[in-house]
Amino acid sequence: MPRLLITRPWPVAAEDYLKGRYDVTVNDSGAPLSREALVAAMGDYDAICATVTDRFDAEILATPNARVKMIGNFGVGYEHIDVKAARAAGIAVSNTPDVLTDATADIALLLMLMTSRRAGEGERQLRDGQWSGWGTTHLLGQSLQGKTLGLIGFGRIGQATAHRAHTALGMKIAYQSRHRQPVEVEGPLGATYVESVDELLKTADVVSLHCPGGAETRHLINAERLRLMKPTAILINTARGSVVNEGELAAALRDNVIAAAGLDVYEAEPKVHPDLMGLENAVLLPHLGSATVETRTKMGMRVAANIDRFFAGEALLDPVT
Ligand code: DGY
Repeated sequence: MPRLLITRPWPVAAEDYLKGRYDVTVNDSGAPLSREALVAAMGDYDAICATVTDRFDAEILATPNARVKMIGNFGVGYEHIDVKAARAAGIAVSNTPDVLTDATADIALLLMLMTSRRAGEGERQLRDGQWSGWGTTHLLGQSLQGKTLGLIGFGRIGQATAHRAHTALGMKIAYQSRHRQPVEVEGPLGATYVESVDELLKTADVVSLHCPGGAETRHLINAERLRLMKPTAILINTARGSVVNEGELAAALRDNVIAAAGLDVYEAEPKVHPDLMGLENAVLLPHLGSATVETRTKMGMRVAANIDRFFAGEALLDPVT
């Protein structure tokens, strides 16, 4: 029976499914595994069910006499796995697309509403006993009705976010991505394709990031690009922390270069740039994009489906190449 390591506890149903079919060890400690533990696991297991907190760099993947032949990533983003090095080591990698699309789009919308309506500020004020009652000009935010949502990256999650913003909030949709989508995708959203990131930044009222992390998109949003945005604009990041230069964003928020930012992901999680922490116009969530029981269960089952296929000698459902 193949030996499997699950590096962080999963919802019970998904763990139980694998436990019924494989020799499974779960890291129940609640903490991410150390680098040393990951290196040891490379020699002890046939497959590792990893996640965003496990960094599989080229050195770990080249562990001599490794037993691991497959890494099933619990998550859609795989910036933390050196896929090229995995291929070189003969290790297959899979991820979990589709199943977290809606949950992540919900969080993007939540951040858009929290930032535009100053919800974090209001809650802090109330809990601190600083609320003196209803006021005609108290904590005025901005309406999103009829405003333009500019999406950078327009895959599944970007499209689901656009759909929510268009149908629920009446927003206009513009997007920038490597490929223009066909009319069947653009049409129902009335979405406009914008040729460049800079052009999108200049025209959007809310900019939401939905591109993958990695070398190509690292610090795509920096001081220079933030200066292109409207002073009333809001930046939302539910993609990967590395896409934004956090220090430069904090300075832009402090100096009112843009109005607000809603972040769910950070460059060095769980560390958050200290300059962001005290800013009233930053809404900071602890990477909750996929955090519902339903979604995390589906993610586990999707990893399991890939593991099953791998050990049955079949093509992976969600190969990462
Ligand atoms: C994802 O799937 O990419 C989530 O952000 C968790 O890693």
